[in-house]
Amino acid sequence: MTETDKKLIAEAKRVREFAYCPYSNFAVGAAVLGESGTIYGGCNVENASYSMTNCAERTAIYKAISAGEQEILALAVVAQGIEPVSPCGACRQVIAEFRIPHILMANLADDVREMTLEEIIPGAFSKENLEQ
Ligand code: THU
Repeated sequence: MTETDKKLIAEAKRVREFAYCPYSNFAVGAAVLGESGTIYGGCNVENASYSMTNCAERTAIYKAISAGEQEILALAVVAQGIEPVSPCGACRQVIAEFRIPHILMANLADDVREMTLEEIIPGAFSKENLEQ
């Protein structure tokens, strides 16, 4: 793991404290590294209409894109658990959209699992599939 990887995990842990999760009580934090070098953190934000929930990963990715980042170099996600937290299918599809090449999954005990884009969502549906 690089120093940048460690910084991403630390930021994901920090913003996890801001998670709005009164329904699941499962707090998640994420952080992404933009091409500018800036790190953006995000937490899960739940809703009484459960399906409106936004996962931590998507919060962080959308913050980076909204700030003008055109490329995201890495993503870290952290939650409490026996194993490092695993991004949901919807977040994997968003990770595919922005072709994030390096994904770090961690828990609070600092167990870390690293994956490439192809490992996290093999054969993802992408804009190339829309070409006719
Ligand atoms: N959640 C995330 O934010 N990221 C993940 O990788 C897994 C799930 C959130 C969604 C919901 O608020 C809570 O965790 C329980 O599913």
